[in-house]
Amino acid sequence: MPSVDVEEVKSRVNIVELIGRYITLKPSGQRFKGRCPFHPDDTPSLLVSPDKGLWHCFGCHAGGDAIGFLMKIERLSFPEALSRLARELGIEIRTAGGEGRAKLLQANEQAVQYFARELRRPSGKKARDYLLGRGLEEKVWERYKLGYAPEGWDGLLRTLGQVGVDTLRDLGLVVAGERGYYDRFRDRVMFTIGDDQGRPVAFAGRSFAGDPKYVNIPNTSLFTKGTLLYGLDLARDAIRSAGRAVLVEGYTDVISLQTAGIGEAVGSMGTALTDAQARLIARHADQVVIAYDRDAAGEASALRGLVILRAAGLRVAVAVLPPDEDPDSLVRGQGADAAREVLARALPFHRFFVEAIASRHDVATVEGKEQVLVEAKTFWPEIRSVPLQHELARELAALLSLREEEVWGYLRGEARVAVPNEERPRIGPEEIFLHFLVAGKLPERVLGDLDLAEFRPEHRPIVAKWVELWHGGERPTASRLASELPPDSVQVLTQVALLDLPFSNEAQAIADAETRFLHLPRLNRRLDEARRRLVEAETAGDADEVQRLNAALQALCQERLRLMRRR
Ligand code: UTP
Ligand code: MN
Repeated sequence: MPSVDVEEVKSRVNIVELIGRYITLKPSGQRFKGRCPFHPDDTPSLLVSPDKGLWHCFGCHAGGDAIGFLMKIERLSFPEALSRLARELGIEIRTAGGEGRAKLLQANEQAVQYFARELRRPSGKKARDYLLGRGLEEKVWERYKLGYAPEGWDGLLRTLGQVGVDTLRDLGLVVAGERGYYDRFRDRVMFTIGDDQGRPVAFAGRSFAGDPKYVNIPNTSLFTKGTLLYGLDLARDAIRSAGRAVLVEGYTDVISLQTAGIGEAVGSMGTALTDAQARLIARHADQVVIAYDRDAAGEASALRGLVILRAAGLRVAVAVLPPDEDPDSLVRGQGADAAREVLARALPFHRFFVEAIASRHDVATVEGKEQVLVEAKTFWPEIRSVPLQHELARELAALLSLREEEVWGYLRGEARVAVPNEERPRIGPEEIFLHFLVAGKLPERVLGDLDLAEFRPEHRPIVAKWVELWHGGERPTASRLASELPPDSVQVLTQVALLDLPFSNEAQAIADAETRFLHLPRLNRRLDEARRRLVEAETAGDADEVQRLNAALQALCQERLRLMRRR
């Protein structure tokens, strides 16, 4: 039976022609530029790269591949956009409607059963112990369709072989490598993602240790990233009776809260909220309490999610969790009542929004105040409610000791503050390094030595996915990565992929990126450590150690000088 290969569609579609149907594109070097259709844009901020097959708006930061553009501008789901393009290109497609969809769901059911069986076999002991150790009992395994994907490369492929390898690929359960297909999930605890009826449309696998923590299914004809909420099928009645939804990030957060009696918990699955998810919540409730990890909620991408919820007409409150806790650890450590208490004390949206921005800057200084305004302004186009705009302007004015009219004027674009770097994308060593990584230009030596912790949080999913595909035997392009990542990561990806880096000698620029992003910071950390220990040794009066450390410090400084010179 013919099936559609997402990468084939993407490689054959003419992205410039496609986007050019909606906006005027003008050539600019090897790319094309135009006015972004997704925000009021008077400078052409949208860039299209035909060779990368990607687009990115440097004004509003939307970005993606051809399928993503069509989804966004025509408000289509992934399978709708995919099949429209495939039809135009004359590529035969098995549609998700009717028989095709039923067959795919049935195949996923078989996968659920396979993972469940593996969990109960002797070789699944490790996974059983893991789940029990996290307080997840056998009853919970059933209810949430938890399972285990065994070690090895083709357990699922062999067991579900009669389903057909094309179908397994379309479902994202197997991946094409250099030497044929292999299981996407290996030695992982499996979570099943259901649609709003609880039918299995996707899976996620958690590692026992090591990165990436979760492996997820890419967009398939059953599953479009950013359109579902984990656990919604089980939460619907509770949401109705509670009159609200509790929004958490993780799979285990949903399971723990629901199991502890907070049945209205649903999960955004770790990515910034999308319009579709906000509308989904708004269909079932008119109020939502966000319970994200403390850092996660205040991040710019999460704040944007809150704005989106607000724009969907929901009343939004944000629970402030104790530091280093997520809802799962809170419930298990302190009980359901403590979690209820935290939810009950949630801050109203506007208070949280202003405090989160303020916490990133020093509002005692003029520069800090300017930065708060700049950051608040980046959210302004999305805050469409006039009363809410006034509320925010009032809070900001109080915080910054300005008059409300001044804040209002600036946010509406009527007054300009002379602010450094407004809207200019930040391009540091990390962005440049990432640019070369996704361009497939870093040497193997460097690839084997990547540590996710060295990247900023918004970059980690991109690096993790790149490494995962690389371990599977491919050298993924940026476009291929875009198929695998959730929407908010795709935007970050297209931004670094389409960076216009002026350099005359590429090899030199690559070596330079490696030095500036990897080696210098690592060396600086070792220097700091050595200095710290030197102080300790001096305080303790340990002369031998002082001498040894001084020598070590000198060697490190020399190494540092050598690195700087090589640049
Ligand atoms: P967290 O890192 O907070 O994990 O990611 P968690 O849910 O608390 O998981 P446990 O408790 O350590 O098992 C939150 C969510 O982000 C997504 C997953 O949906 C996860 O539940 N995520 C996280 C990924 O998709 N991939 C990752 O590598 C990490
Ligand atoms: Mn957790």
